[in-house]
Amino acid sequence: MSGNSTEPLNLFDYETLAQTRLSRRAWNYISDGAADEITLRANRQAFDALRLRPHMLRDVSVIDTTTSFLGASLAQPVMVAPMAYQRLACEEGEVAVAVAAAATQTALCLSTLSTREIGEVAAPHGSLPRFFQLYMLKDRGITRELVSRACASGFGAIVLTVDAPYPGRRERGSADRMVLPSGLHLANLDGLGGRESWSIANFASELDASLSWRDLDWLSSLSPLPVIVKGILRADDASMAIDHGAGAICVSNHGGRQLDTAIASITALPEIVQAVHSRCDVILDGGIRRGTDVLKALALGARAVLVGRPVIWGLAHSGAAGAQRVLELLRDEFRLAMALAGCARISDIDQSLVV
Ligand SMILES: Cc1cc2nc3c(=O)[nH]c(=O)nc-3n(C[C@H](O)[C@H](O)[C@H](O)COP(=O)(O)O)c2cc1C
Repeated sequence: MSGNSTEPLNLFDYETLAQTRLSRRAWNYISDGAADEITLRANRQAFDALRLRPHMLRDVSVIDTTTSFLGASLAQPVMVAPMAYQRLACEEGEVAVAVAAAATQTALCLSTLSTREIGEVAAPHGSLPRFFQLYMLKDRGITRELVSRACASGFGAIVLTVDAPYPGRRERGSADRMVLPSGLHLANLDGLGGRESWSIANFASELDASLSWRDLDWLSSLSPLPVIVKGILRADDASMAIDHGAGAICVSNHGGRQLDTAIASITALPEIVQAVHSRCDVILDGGIRRGTDVLKALALGARAVLVGRPVIWGLAHSGAAGAQRVLELLRDEFRLAMALAGCARISDIDQSLVV
């Protein structure tokens, strides 16, 4: 926002505006990080601390941001992260995000904790790549049913979140964390596990903290969909994930919402990329706010990145149009960052760009 204009110029402007439009409860839930929020801040600080070494005189008159992930083509290496309860930000919730993603040809992940049904979200997203995020509950029948619904609704992979055997200790929203405003419900879970409807408290008590590598083998055998393991922060875990059937690794600390003081995801990325050694794609989330962050993540070996909170800020600001604008800003900033770094194609981006 410059001068008298209230037009947001970047993702941080959307953050400022979203706070003025959301209820205190919704703002606390969305912005929260665990405990002292050291990891939440570290995700940003680690990107800021990386410096770029741009190439010059490399003909950047045409910039091509297309790439692929798990065999699907992406118009740009940015996807929407799975986030719960999007109707806290605007009435259409996850459907509005799907509309925004479709308008920008962006791949998206839908949370198990969606406040819209899986089919309602799939329809506006058309044939673009989309992935279903799974929390495994104690009742494996529910997992089977969710995976089969994801297959039927054209989701191309299951994103198994492994960093949340228990919800992290988030203190900003602790007073009102366990209740959704009336009218909102866990649309994906209603009717499953013998429950007509699910509350957040029911869900938290059903999360399976006994989850182990064996369950990943089981999940991989359940459907033809590849499993993306989300929440990996160490090289040895990345190798274990591949040994147990993972189709891709998502380096993530859940946006600083789970284990506080955990390593920033961009800091963890290089050792994981090295250990994976091209056996599968590696993606990353946590703190992506600028086109240069996307460039840095790709330079350090990520195939693509996921953007979380900024999409919700856009949604809170102006529904689908706001979420779309957030995705456009990030795409345009990334395209410019590529050009100014002397990279006309994604394959031109390499580790030498970053110190
Ligand atoms: C409001 C909110 C809800 C989230 N819900 C989920 C979820 O349901 N499942 C999941 O795997 N990750 C969830 N996450 C984590 C995101 O997928 C992602 O890892 C994180 O937001 C990325 O960091 P960023 O917000 O800094 O971009 C959530 C994050 C936020 C902010």
